Amino acid sequence: MSFIFAVLLSYLIGSIPSGFLLTKYLMKKDVRKYGSGNIGATNVARVMGLKSGIIVAVFDILKGYLGVLAAQLILANSAPIWVLIAAVAAIAGHNWSVFLGFSGGKGVATTFGVILRLYPLAFLIYGLIWLAFVLKTRYVSLGSIIGAISLPFTLYFSGFAAQDIIFACLLALFVIYTHRENIKRLLHGKENRMDPDKLGKS
Ligand code: G3P
Repeated sequence: MSFIFAVLLSYLIGSIPSGFLLTKYLMKKDVRKYGSGNIGATNVARVMGLKSGIIVAVFDILKGYLGVLAAQLILANSAPIWVLIAAVAAIAGHNWSVFLGFSGGKGVATTFGVILRLYPLAFLIYGLIWLAFVLKTRYVSLGSIIGAISLPFTLYFSGFAAQDIIFACLLALFVIYTHRENIKRLLHGKENRMDPDKLGKS
């Protein structure tokens, strides 16, 4: 029973649509109608500016972190795999939020929060890859995708168990799936570049 409670709680924490709420209640704007249409930090930065984007990023990272932490506390005596399932639920909550009719974001910040709690080294490597690609290409999506693909490799070479590597593959697949439109745009040279001068103006 505590397993179902932990997974549901983690899903509900992940479901809180911070980007949507911030733009809706502070700017009376539905962020889904602007920029890329995503509710994540990147699009909030595009629409409302860098400061708002950072607030949403922090909140979405916290959702992943707290979803895992709550599951670890509730499931202290259960096998670690149940915590990994709760972690997937937090990201699924962000991507398919019950508060937005099972739609939502792309799950990158929430994935950051999950791996920060579970695998700090993989978090650091994902973060550095993300930053390097964003600074070099100005494509946030490319950093998100390549960084996510690095996750299973980082865990494999760090000697983690098969279940952790399978879990990391699943997280990478989530990110690839939620970025499928970005991938099409990248392949056609039509992806939005992050232009610091245009933040808050979309
Ligand atoms: O985390 C989302 C980012 O990778 C892409 O965002 O708004 O450019 O689709 P966006």
